Amino acid sequence: MTITTIILAAGKGTRMRSELPKVLHNIAHKPLLQHVYDLSNQLDDNGIQIVIGHGAGLVKESLASSFNVNWIEQVQQLGTGHAVQQVCPYIADNDTVLILYGDVPLLKLSTVKQLLLDVSYKALALLTVNLDIPAGYGRIVRDAGHQVIKIVEEKDASVEEKRIQEVNTGIMAVMGGQLKKWLGQLKNDNAQGEYYLTDIIEMAVAEGISIVTSQPQTTEEVMGVNNRAQLAQLERVYQQEQAEYLMAQGVTLRDPSRFDLRGSLDSLGQDIEIDVNVILEGKISIGNNVKIGPNTQIKNAVIGDNVEIFSCCVIEDAVIGQGSRVGPYARLRPETVLAANVHIGNFVEIKKSSIAEASKINHLSYIGDASVGSHVNIGAGTITCNYDGANKFRTIIGDGAFIGSDTQLIAPVTIGNNATIGAGSTITRDTPDNQLTLSRAKQLSVAGWQRPVKKGS
Ligand code: UD1
Ligand code: CA
Repeated sequence: MTITTIILAAGKGTRMRSELPKVLHNIAHKPLLQHVYDLSNQLDDNGIQIVIGHGAGLVKESLASSFNVNWIEQVQQLGTGHAVQQVCPYIADNDTVLILYGDVPLLKLSTVKQLLLDVSYKALALLTVNLDIPAGYGRIVRDAGHQVIKIVEEKDASVEEKRIQEVNTGIMAVMGGQLKKWLGQLKNDNAQGEYYLTDIIEMAVAEGISIVTSQPQTTEEVMGVNNRAQLAQLERVYQQEQAEYLMAQGVTLRDPSRFDLRGSLDSLGQDIEIDVNVILEGKISIGNNVKIGPNTQIKNAVIGDNVEIFSCCVIEDAVIGQGSRVGPYARLRPETVLAANVHIGNFVEIKKSSIAEASKINHLSYIGDASVGSHVNIGAGTITCNYDGANKFRTIIGDGAFIGSDTQLIAPVTIGNNATIGAGSTITRDTPDNQLTLSRAKQLSVAGWQRPVKKGS
């Protein structure tokens, strides 16, 4: 079966009140249209056609490089039927045409597959849903024998028809030749003066084609995004689904309603515990027995076994070796690589640096553009001065070095293996292995010195 999937995405999305075209708004950091594209992409032997209109340039610019589709511009939005008409030149008679909406992001593959099972030269497959409040939707009109005979749009519906609770989701599958023929017969003599795709249902029935309906597993699957409230609502639905999936995989989520995954967990160990308000973004992999404390944000990271990340950390493009501990209040910036059993404590910032096994940077430090050896202890308040205002330079710290508190390491500089740096030093030259180096004014005490006294007292 050769499939042509048409994704309708030309609509304006006025109620979003946004400069951004509606289908570029995100759910879980991914544009609505990308959700629909990713779903379509899971079908074999499928050519994808996307109809764009409002903000067409921006939509294409944002997504063209990652989408393998044919983009079609619908210059004027004259209705859903008119939108599908734009694709006619690309539809073969024997194609199975699947019609999806670019602003309906949570549709499931199983639901689409049912439509593809139902469609044939003798049947048009239509996805419908029953709503307590059907207002705004096209209603599914059935005859006494419960056969679908037409869809009537809300604005054209009689009082009686408006009471029908089964509505059109807009999603359907139909054979290409039939679709093209019916599209050619559409008229816009209706309440909205639009070419309604839904009018093809009556045409199909007139030709003895049966309308086979199926329903999604949940209503949310077919909900469209028209405003920011619906966007937020579907974000929650999506996050809840992801949370349930992770829990089923054995992850403990302290509160699934306060967890956000905006990307993909590529590899997942056993007995992971994630506390509240953790946000995972991009590509993440997490080993066994990892604990992540509350209020932590992690983007693109590889986290080894037995790692503990305490509360309120911000981690991006980092590798955290097994047994390491990070935080609370630590920031690991891009290209941070921690080997096994490294300790990074509170108010420590690390950037573009590798920290070898069992080294500790426990308090209030900035380590940037550095290679830190193994079993190094970096005291509180240590700063790698990596930037002279124009260029960045590297700091190299040998294995077993001990850096006293409140030390500035002026890069480029190398600290020898097992070297000790006295607290409060400003190190501008390389220091030898095994020796104590310090740069510190000699301490003196002034005998007989008097404290100043406030004038007039
Ligand atoms: C449509 C259906 C209605 C159904 C409802 C489900 C028709 C005539 N009506 O109504 O039966 O209950 O969807 O949400 O089909 N679009 C274009 N070009 C256009 C018009 C629309 O690309 O000229 C796209 C929109 O971007 C959107 C989709 O088609 O993704 C649906 O358009 P919308 O205006 O929301 O359709 P409704 O009038 O709500
Ligand atoms: Ca709509």
